[in-house]
Amino acid sequence: MTETDYSDNAGGPTTSEEHRAAGHWLLAKMGKRVLRPGGIELTRRLLGALGIGTGDRVVELGPGIGRTAQLVLDGSYARYIGVDPNADARQQIAKVLTGHHDAAVEEGDARANGLPDGCADVVISEAMLTMQSAADKSKIAHEVFRTLTPGGRWGMHELSLKPDDVDQSVVDQVSKALSRTIKVGARPLTTKAWTQLVTEAGFEVEWTGHNPMKLVDPTRIIADEGLRGALRFFNNVRRNPQARQRIMAMRRVFHANRDHLEAVALVARKPVSTEAAPTETDPKLE
Ligand SMILES: C[S@@+](CC[C@H](N)C(=O)[O-])C[C@H]1O[C@@H](n2cnc3c(N)ncnc32)[C@H](O)[C@@H]1O
Repeated sequence: MTETDYSDNAGGPTTSEEHRAAGHWLLAKMGKRVLRPGGIELTRRLLGALGIGTGDRVVELGPGIGRTAQLVLDGSYARYIGVDPNADARQQIAKVLTGHHDAAVEEGDARANGLPDGCADVVISEAMLTMQSAADKSKIAHEVFRTLTPGGRWGMHELSLKPDDVDQSVVDQVSKALSRTIKVGARPLTTKAWTQLVTEAGFEVEWTGHNPMKLVDPTRIIADEGLRGALRFFNNVRRNPQARQRIMAMRRVFHANRDHLEAVALVARKPVSTEAAPTETDPKLE
């Protein structure tokens, strides 16, 4: 991400940045704070299923600008650490964490997060794995396993393909169309393949939820951002023709592929007894 302005007046003059920016950063620049496919409603259900309590040490991978962090900090928890490689995102999330002495953000990469073994009771990741290659998805799943204490749980929220037996040619075509539009490699999996990814890393899936993929639909934007936030977003987009063009193109691609796209959330638990943790493999899930 280059010089990104997340301010309320981000609609400003058109720049070539609007051409190049990854879709989620473009949306963030226009004032969107919820950057995951199932919206804040699916995040709330995921957090409900995770049941974070006063004793839980929470790690969030790829927290972006911190909307989920805000929800975690509003509830009970023992400690929160956000890990994101992006400096602008870290600056944004630091604002959300201000005043919370039990919360911090660190520079890091989910593939090798640098945190001690078993240091977390809960790991959260949303809209982060979809953009990773098959090998990196597997690496991250094993890294989350290492980071969690036995019995700990991983809550993830990602883009998913349907049905589970969707033809590989459709997977390739949808991934290509998405990547071209959002300008970042998008490699969603079916719910079955997401489940396989985490079970191959040693987890047991305890809960699964779905929502329609409506990231840039007006009704979802209002639901996610509230009326004021949505009006600010619509106004910023209206004032920025290049951003508008790109966001409309994203909406068209999401709409054209709606029969195959949805959002999925999973809660996966690291078993209490993990004598022989599985070794990392490349599951070739794409
Ligand atoms: C689409 S945004 C989602 C942000 C936020 N989780 C949300 O759902 O609103 C993806 C986030 O993942 C982060 N990210 C990308 N690659 C990552 C990696 N290898 N390790 C950790 N975070 C990563 C990005 O910097 C960004 O903050």
